[in-house]
Amino acid sequence: MRNHSFLFWVVLGLLVDGVFVSVTDEVKPVSVMKGDSVILSTGVSELQSDDMLEWIFGEVIIAKIEEKHKISINVFRDRLELDSQNGSLTIKDIANEHEGLYKVDIRGRSETSKRFNVTVREGMMNVSVMEGESVTLRTGVIEIQGHDLILWKFEDHLIAEINKETNQFILNDSGDERFKDRLQPNEKTGSLIISKSRITDTGVYHLQMSNSTYTIQRTIGVTVTAVSVSLRDLAMILGGGGVVLLVGALFALVIYCFKKCKKQRGGMI
Ligand SMILES: *[C@@H]1O[C@H](CO)[C@@H](O)[C@H](O)[C@H]1NC(C)=O
Ligand SMILES: *[C@@H]1O[C@H](CO)[C@@H](O)[C@H](O)[C@H]1NC(C)=O
Ligand SMILES: *[C@@H]1O[C@H](CO)[C@@H](O)[C@H](O)[C@H]1NC(C)=O
Ligand SMILES: *[C@@H]1O[C@H](CO)[C@@H](O)[C@H](O)[C@H]1NC(C)=O
Ligand SMILES: *[C@@H]1O[C@H](CO)[C@@H](O)[C@H](O)[C@H]1NC(C)=O
Repeated sequence: MRNHSFLFWVVLGLLVDGVFVSVTDEVKPVSVMKGDSVILSTGVSELQSDDMLEWIFGEVIIAKIEEKHKISINVFRDRLELDSQNGSLTIKDIANEHEGLYKVDIRGRSETSKRFNVTVREGMMNVSVMEGESVTLRTGVIEIQGHDLILWKFEDHLIAEINKETNQFILNDSGDERFKDRLQPNEKTGSLIISKSRITDTGVYHLQMSNSTYTIQRTIGVTVTAVSVSLRDLAMILGGGGVVLLVGALFALVIYCFKKCKKQRGGMI
């Protein structure tokens, strides 16, 4: 009872003051891979015109919005992007030196403070397979939980959507002949398997994992190499008189080496 009335007076006091304070002390863990882009959300959908916003990395202010939405960004070179609507901070092409604590403070009619602990793991390498093998596009997470939404895109087309919140797994492989019946999502990790790969699967794939705290964007290059064609080529060479040429060339090489070595030895004596 005492606690409740205490809270009541605190809330009333804040309302009377015209300022609502919402401070989340919890540090949100954000685990990314090297090369990812990460968007840290303020949780505010729209900033007010008189809001002051500061993004702090460790002890350093890295981005801020002053009055009149003036944006000034220092350090991080051209890796940072600040959204003037909602204050979200994008860190592109993240590297080890960007690991650490990020804090956002918004002061105005409402006050918000959020902290993120960003850790950077080794990056996902591009994938290279032989035609017919399956390709696994990994999210890098052991189990999707907090990630509300996972989108997989090939070039600009959505090929899979995993919505953990609604427990929906949508594959866009029926309208598109390209991936017809060859896509298989891993419901636990959110990874996507493309079976019986074709040369036309070669290209750039985009992953987007997001929940209300942050969004991770990753690009994975996939190369599918034709095996059958090169084997056929080899068979043609071997079958079509190529053997004779090949043996001839080898023989010439041996003779050449033999002569050269003899010459060298002769010179030394
Ligand atoms: C903030 O704005 C960016 C760019 O307009 C958008 O991509 C993002 O979804 C927004 N975030 C939230 C939490 O609304
Ligand atoms: C940030 O995460 C790292 C790795 O998980 C951990 O060692 C560190 O204690 C965390 N820092 C804070 C302030 O939560
Ligand atoms: C967002 O995802 C992360 C990682 O799974 C999780 O720690 C965090 O609690 C999630 N946040 C929300 C609001 O679901
Ligand atoms: C599904 O894939 C087709 C072909 O690539 C594309 O035209 C379409 O826009 C995709 N659907 C969605 C919802 O993105
Ligand atoms: C991965 O593939 C993409 C697209 O094919 C390419 O632009 C990028 O340089 C590759 N990255 C690495 C590390 O090989």
